[in-house]
Order: sequence, then C-alpha cells, then structure tokens
Amino acid sequence: MSQLPRKQDLTETSPMQGDTSASGGSVSGDSPRTKTKGGTNVDTIIGKVVVDQGLATPDEVQQCLEQARSLAQDNNQRSLADLLVANDYITRRQLQRLRSLVEAERQGQQIPGYKVLGKLGAGAMAAVFKGRQLSLDRLVAIKVLPRKFSTNTQFMERFYAEGRAAAQLNHPNIVQAYDVGQAGDVHYFVMEYVEGRTVYDDIVKHKKYSEKDAIDVVIQITEALQHAHAKGLIHRDVKPKNIMITQEGVAKLADMGLARAISDKEAAEAEQGKAFGTPYYISPEQIRGKLEIGPPADIYSLGATLYHMVTGNVPFDGKSPSAVMHKHLKAELIPPDHVNPKLSAGVSEIIEMMMAKEPGVRYQSAKELLVDLRAVRSGKQPVMAHKDIGGMELASLAQVEAAAPAILQEDTSRKQSGLFEMLFYVMLGLFVVSVIINVVLFAGRS
Ligand SMILES: Nc1ncnc2c1ncn2[C@@H]1O[C@H](COP(=O)(O)OP(=O)(O)OP(=O)(O)O)[C@@H](O)[C@H]1O
Ligand SMILES: [Mg+2]
Repeated sequence: MSQLPRKQDLTETSPMQGDTSASGGSVSGDSPRTKTKGGTNVDTIIGKVVVDQGLATPDEVQQCLEQARSLAQDNNQRSLADLLVANDYITRRQLQRLRSLVEAERQGQQIPGYKVLGKLGAGAMAAVFKGRQLSLDRLVAIKVLPRKFSTNTQFMERFYAEGRAAAQLNHPNIVQAYDVGQAGDVHYFVMEYVEGRTVYDDIVKHKKYSEKDAIDVVIQITEALQHAHAKGLIHRDVKPKNIMITQEGVAKLADMGLARAISDKEAAEAEQGKAFGTPYYISPEQIRGKLEIGPPADIYSLGATLYHMVTGNVPFDGKSPSAVMHKHLKAELIPPDHVNPKLSAGVSEIIEMMMAKEPGVRYQSAKELLVDLRAVRSGKQPVMAHKDIGGMELASLAQVEAAAPAILQEDTSRKQSGLFEMLFYVMLGLFVVSVIINVVLFAGRS
C-alpha cells in the first residue's frame, strides 16, 4: 500500500477541484458522511459505482471504507474517493470519470422506472444522461432540467405541452421523444438514445465538412423540419449541437419541442459567457422577439449551421452575444464561397437565401428548400436561389414563386404556338395540294 498523501495534496491537485456538477455535487470534497439530497451516503454510491465499473474489488472498497472510519475517529475526515486514489486502486483520471457516474447515479435514484448509466453531456440549460428504461429494457437519453425551472409554472406548462407535441412526431431524422415527467423536484425529458456524435463535435475536430457531406446532413435535417412544421412545431434552436449523427451516418435533429419552452431571450441569456454557446444561429425575428415565429426561422438557423459546416466559420462573430445578435440583424453576410472558394456557387446561393434577414425573402418552407438542396446535390443549379433566374437578383421568394410558373407558362405557350404553326402549314400544304389536284383533274376532263 502506498503512503497516504496529506488531504491537502489530493485536493490541491484533484482534477475535479473547483468543478461543479449539474446537481451541484463534488465527489472529492465530500466527506465520508456526506448525504445526498435523497439521503444516500455518497461513499455508498462511489463504492457501488467503482465495483460496478470493475475498477476495484468489493474487498478493496471495504478496506478503504474501514480506513476512512478509523481516520475519522482520529478526527481526520477522508472521503472514500480520496482513499481509493491514495491507495492506487483508481487513478485521478478514473476518479474524474467516476464523478459523472456518481452524479448520474444520484440523479437516477430520483427517476423511477429508469436506471441512469452515466452522463452524456451538459448544455447551457440541462444535463443529459444515458439510461435504461426498465419496463421496455431499452437505452434512452434523459434530459434533466435544473431545479430552478420547477418554480416557474409558465415554463413548466410550456415544457409539458411541447413535450407532448414532440412525442407526436415520428421521423427517422428526429430524435424521438418518449416521455416527460417529474420526480421530486426534478423535471425530466426522456428521448431516444443516439449512439454517435454531434455536428458540433465534427466541426471542433475537423473544422469543416465537404460540400457533399454537409448537403447530405442538411437534406436529412430539412426532411425532419418538413415533418415537424407540418405538425405545427417550430424547432427554434437548430444548431450544430442539436444535430446528431449516428454511427451509420443518419442525421437526427435533437431537442425538438424543448426550445419552445424557454423564450429565445432566456435561452440567449443563459448562453452568455459560454465559449461556443453564443447565439450564432438565431434568426433575426427571434432576436426581435417576434411572437409569430414560423418555418423560415428554422430555415435561417439551418442556413447558419450549413454556413459553419462548409466554411469552418460562424456566419457572424463578435465579442459578446449582443454583438453577434446585432450582426444577425444588420451586418451583410460574407458569401460562403468567398470564405471557402472550393464551394459551388449553388450551395452558396442556397445559404444566402436561407439566411436572408427578412423571413419573407427566405425559402418559405422546408419543401421549397429541399428542391434546391436536391438540385445542387445532383450537380444542377438551385431553382429558387439561383441569382440569374429571369435576370432577377435573389428576388423575394414571392417574386420567384410568381415568376416560376410564369416562366413555365411562357415556355409551354411558346411550345404550343409552335405546334399550331406547324399544323397550320401542314393543313395549308394539304389544301394547296388538293387545289392543284382538283385543277389538274378538272383540266383533264375538259
Ligand atoms: N438523445 C441523445 N442521445 C445521446 N446523446 C445526447 C442526446 N441528446 C443530447 N446528447 C448529448 O448531450 C449533450 C448535451 O445536450 P444538451 O441538449 O443539453 O445541450 P447542447 O444541445 O449540447 O447545448 P445547449 O445547451 O447549448 O443547447 C449533447 O451535446 C450530446 O452530446
Ligand atoms: Mg441539445
């Protein structure tokens, strides 16, 4: 057994020092007698998780617990976590991982029907855990909301209403909502567990996507939006962190129905100070706090996401969230193909149309956007976004829409008139020939 370092040594160098968990707990600082909110001894949970994970044997845990007890009698309080590291049963790195599992275990004890297996991540608003739904024996992801929301009845009403609405959706490109509920003072949202990564993870790792890969992802998300919009749900928070990619390469839109529960302003405020959480993808009308937020808002955010994916840059950057939001409202967008000259003019035109400041100038529906995305995917020019349509410069969609049938009509009427012209000449020819024959016959008889 290695010599025990002084308590201060451990706490000074602990990787968890100063870190706070979603539930506000910290393993390294917990004394052996610390009780969780639910009344469970933290050491009991740590001991259980360490053994479950195969990091230490039950005997080794027992030995550390006894050591902690005897130290406590000498007025030297040491936590089980401290002692497991001090005795070299686990490393500090393992202890760090353990912390999230313990936290998960604490949360899980409060959600009946689910066993929490570990923490998947945390965003500005909530923590997400991997879990197992015991009744159906399936893996799920559980989003646990911070307690402070429980007291906001308006928020809770919206949260449940949107949760129910999201559960009505069923689409291969939408992370399926399963359940919403409350256990004690914790509110949670249960959804399909997606084994994979987010587009945000990809951007952080590889900086940018190839045009083809980005379009493939965005087409799938546009199909998801088409389905949600048809059921009257606007996502309101489309962004790289909310697009998950499965191991098979299927893109899935996450957090459908969650964003609506929190006002855009609240969400933006919550993101203040987060390195990547600045509102890089929010639509101008959401910034303006417009009440009527429609499909074009999601199309704008998806456009900003696509911009980031293919250029490696966010469309508008700034020192603060308000500086970024101001640019969404006022600044001219640097065309994506100016940032990345490898891009086709088509994809650049599509992004510009998706990110038009005025919602009325954007694609009005996911269906319209899909037409252009599919055209560019098959190497053609986008129909609506192409700047040269009828000599128009990125005209308003209303104009484009009005123009498109007119162009078609013009074309077909031209074709039709050509056909009539040909028929006319054929008839005329036949008439002339019959006149000549008649004249000849008449002359022959006389
Ligand atoms: N259904 C899921 N399956 C698997 N992992 C998930 C699932 N939903 C979320 N995650 C993981 O949990 C992390 C946190 O998700 P969460 O929605 O709380 O925040 P976010 O979308 O990343 O950021 P923000 O709070 O800024 O919106 C995600 O980045 C993702 O890695
Ligand atoms: Mg999310």
